[in-house]
Amino acid sequence: MSDLLQRDSQFVWHPFTQMQTAPEPLPIVRAKDAVLYAADGREYIDCNSSWWVNVHGHGNEHIAKAITQQLETLDHIIFAGVTHPAAVELSERIVDILPANLTRVFFSDDGSTAVEVALKMVFQYWFNQDISRHRMLALDGAYHGDTFGAMSVGQRDYFNAPFEKFFFDVDFLDFPVESNHTHLLSQAEVLFSTNEFAALIVEPLVQGSAGMRMYSPTFLDALTTLAHKHGVLVIFDEVMTGWGRTGTLFALDQCVEKPDIVCLSKGLTGGVLPLGLTVASDEIYTAFLSEEKVKALLHGHSFTGNPLCCAAALANLDLFAHPMTFENMARIAHQHALFIGELMPHSGVVEARQLGTILAIELKDPTDRAYFSNIRDVAYAFFLERGLLIRPCGNVVFLNPPYCTSNAQLDQAYQAIHDFIETLSIPD
Ligand SMILES: Cc1ncc(COP(=O)(O)O)c(C=O)c1O
Repeated sequence: MSDLLQRDSQFVWHPFTQMQTAPEPLPIVRAKDAVLYAADGREYIDCNSSWWVNVHGHGNEHIAKAITQQLETLDHIIFAGVTHPAAVELSERIVDILPANLTRVFFSDDGSTAVEVALKMVFQYWFNQDISRHRMLALDGAYHGDTFGAMSVGQRDYFNAPFEKFFFDVDFLDFPVESNHTHLLSQAEVLFSTNEFAALIVEPLVQGSAGMRMYSPTFLDALTTLAHKHGVLVIFDEVMTGWGRTGTLFALDQCVEKPDIVCLSKGLTGGVLPLGLTVASDEIYTAFLSEEKVKALLHGHSFTGNPLCCAAALANLDLFAHPMTFENMARIAHQHALFIGELMPHSGVVEARQLGTILAIELKDPTDRAYFSNIRDVAYAFFLERGLLIRPCGNVVFLNPPYCTSNAQLDQAYQAIHDFIETLSIPD
């Protein structure tokens, strides 16, 4: 065991990891564009953009320059009672690229806190007006983060079982598929008609942790419209779908009916520094204005509006203003579609799905074969051997690569996915 791994095993507690049985972590010492360099000199393509964050790849010079300049000017400053140019410019530019009704930007640290803030906003919106609306509606299979509020509106399963009794009550609608749209909408109508619902929260168009499950903008439009008809606020959690992943800058760009709150994080800083934003409508913001201090949103974090994070986010916006970013997104989407066309139908695949730069291959899980009982771990190891960092979600192998990933690098990933499926294929 190398010195680094030895020290890691002695002192570090990794996320989502059973420390007793997990294999050694991959020691990565350097990264550039889509490639990660390991301590032993091996190279890996970062096929999942390091948990969806590094949308432009690693070591982007424009982002690095912006952070360096900001560091030399103003590194950090309290954000209560103080403001600074980077936060103000970021707020202006974020409001500019979002739907016209979203006008107020609240800063936090990551995706979970962006969601947590959104939940506090909607509950307090009603509280401040002395209106009793306490119920929340979410979609079955949702994932909105790992803090308590975010867990409450997410799928209840073994990930959060120890905490479940501390969650607030949430109603869940079944995941929308073509055949249940009408049924779900009438269920939602019945629930909303109680006038007890504070808000609806969704991952728009794609549920990530549920295995890249995709649903139509038509359904989301109908659900959002219904919510609005009954005065229910709508939160789009774009933490994962934002920054080009679904083919448009935000998933909401594919919807006609717009949400009242949007949560952003992950690719917001090009994946270089942690930052969360909760962007709310003027109507929500206005409900917090009062002579009474207790009606304010009494929430904040030490790093709220950190200037370095804001500078990285501004540089990210510059990159999205460049046509090259959208050309690369379209190129990757096209390559994904070609791969699906070549792969399907395949006896080892339940379904191949794609939206924008997200490619998901749902594998048949041959649980009757002990070796493959844990398909995710087997696949993960297989791909590492092939120089690819791909973290499947259960039996769903997915790619969401940085937009600088070349066609040759994509081909390397497609070939490995194809070969892995071959190892699984059960003869008819
Ligand atoms: C849709 C969604 N919301 C929220 C989160 C939580 O973000 P974070 O991990 O930055 O706290 C995630 C993370 O994967 C996510 O996919």
